[in-house]
Amino acid sequence: KSPIDIASPPPPPSSMILTQDELKRIAAYKAVDFVKSGMVLGLGTGSTARHAVDRIGELLRQGKLENIVGIPTSEKTEEQALSLGIPLSDLDAHPVVDLSIDGADEVDPYLNLVKGRGGSLLREKMIEGASKEFVVIVDESKMVRHIGGSRMALPVEIVPFCWRFTAGKLREVMEGYGGCEAKLRLGGEKGEAFVTDNGNYIVDMYLEKDMGDLRSVSDEILRLPGVVEHGMFLDMASTVIIAGELGVRIKNK
Ligand code: 5RP
Repeated sequence: KSPIDIASPPPPPSSMILTQDELKRIAAYKAVDFVKSGMVLGLGTGSTARHAVDRIGELLRQGKLENIVGIPTSEKTEEQALSLGIPLSDLDAHPVVDLSIDGADEVDPYLNLVKGRGGSLLREKMIEGASKEFVVIVDESKMVRHIGGSRMALPVEIVPFCWRFTAGKLREVMEGYGGCEAKLRLGGEKGEAFVTDNGNYIVDMYLEKDMGDLRSVSDEILRLPGVVEHGMFLDMASTVIIAGELGVRIKNK
């Protein structure tokens, strides 16, 4: 036997290896433990949040939760919640949300997030920003040292009017933070632009390097006319639940 064979532990039986989706479900179910009857809940969007919404629906059906009001962060989540019989409302009727549960694309050690690769960042930021508690649910693969540093997209929602102009302005701003490639997100079958629930476009920024001062990048992007919102969620998460092969970790702010 080679030394490597001797040193390597035997691989776990394949039935013990959890898929990424199973890890997402574990994190989501753990987050739903935070939900109490009578709460107004922000319902997130994406493949992780989907499990949390399913679980809330299940507990309501079993009578283990009562008087829940859900505020969906997307039309897709609204559809799912309605199909599960979760009573829904909005921020106009409930400007203060007790608890929001949602996934994220990236989480840094200070619990800053990138969200919006699923395209729902504006409603997510409005609802999660109005929440007393914001619980983020992720599998281990979402944990990063610097958000935006993974060469994955940092989404920015912009108005469709002269979107090339706005994308150019985003590139100019990002010159001061190491530069980026800014691409219009496509989504339609014929290669047309992806359109958000709010009728806007998304530009995905692929950064050349870490941005450094996140707060200042955020302020500069938000000052651009044509920009509606960006996918950096700074200092918003109160708790992050991380599911990995070795179990669940909970990080609080
Ligand atoms: C949608 C989001 C999602 O929460 C984020 O993209 C994570 O999605 P998933 O749980 O499918 O990995 O921000 O706008």
